[in-house]
Amino acid sequence: MGIREELQRLDEELDMEMARAETLANIEALRVRMLGKKGQLTALLRSMGALSAEERPKMGQLINERRERFTQLLDERQQKLQQLEQEMRLKREQIDVTEPRALPRLGNLHPNTLVLNQVVDCLTGLGFEVVEGPEVELDLFNFELMNLPKDHPARDAQDTFYIDDNVVLRTHTSPVQARIMTTRKPPIRIISPGRVYRADEVDATHSPVFHQIEGLVIDEGVSMADLKGTLDAFAKRLYGEDIQVRFRPSFFPFTEPSAEVDLTCVNCRGKGCRVCKNTGWIEVLGCGMVNPKVLDMCGIDSKKYSGFAFGVGLERITMLRYGIQDMRLMYEGDLRFLKQFR
Ligand code: DAH
Repeated sequence: MGIREELQRLDEELDMEMARAETLANIEALRVRMLGKKGQLTALLRSMGALSAEERPKMGQLINERRERFTQLLDERQQKLQQLEQEMRLKREQIDVTEPRALPRLGNLHPNTLVLNQVVDCLTGLGFEVVEGPEVELDLFNFELMNLPKDHPARDAQDTFYIDDNVVLRTHTSPVQARIMTTRKPPIRIISPGRVYRADEVDATHSPVFHQIEGLVIDEGVSMADLKGTLDAFAKRLYGEDIQVRFRPSFFPFTEPSAEVDLTCVNCRGKGCRVCKNTGWIEVLGCGMVNPKVLDMCGIDSKKYSGFAFGVGLERITMLRYGIQDMRLMYEGDLRFLKQFR
């Protein structure tokens, strides 16, 4: 085949291949095939040695024209494809800032907090105010003014974390009673939730750090009926309208008389089960009428005023509320546990 025919064939081949080329890689391959060291046009150039001296420059010129034409066509297509690729990438990477996204997973409240919120909601609804007291507390408030005398077993160093002789980590929230009574005048209606400390070993029902909610009402003519009505509303709000409240006589130095409060078993609703040891009742808190001695020590006239107080373990009522069997779960921070409460 003569060089002219060969060139024409190459023209046709290029046109055909160009029509099919869709990617930069196709163009690059075509460039190598035509113009590369071992390319077809290059081979043609080499074959010119066989031509006569007269024909050589003419053919040389024709081949060079092809080289220029091919290069130009390939360059143009390459540019076009690069531009196209860029446009597609921009389109692909375009961000629609108005597109609504899946909501991030918000955390949820600790079961203790959920129950505390309910208690606070219920009792503020009855006119109580929420107050707080310090966790590092004076012996004076924690024990003395609560009528726990110097030789009381609760003051034993084995039960209580002492900072020094006069300062302890509070063993209950009751000292907030004394702080309020020594600084305010009746009527007083407060609840005080917070952390308390005892030198206890950790087990399914004990922890050296836990939470209580204290309640205190002082006014003229406050009676045990007010106490019972308050606790009744509290129990029904937390566990349901069918729950009853039962008082059993008990003893606390800061109340007189004192009572232990049972609720209808929230597990079997009173029928009798493992949780209530078949009694139909579960013990939940301590309470009583504020001991007149405490009132007087705190500077409130016990002849004019009377009051009631109660103290409840937050973990206890939370575990009952959700059927949690082991207190340790509440402090471990395991998300598989914590995520279950809404
Ligand atoms: N402070 C008591 C305790 O930690 C609980 C308690 C009982 C508080 C009777 C009270 C109350 O206010 O009246 O065991």
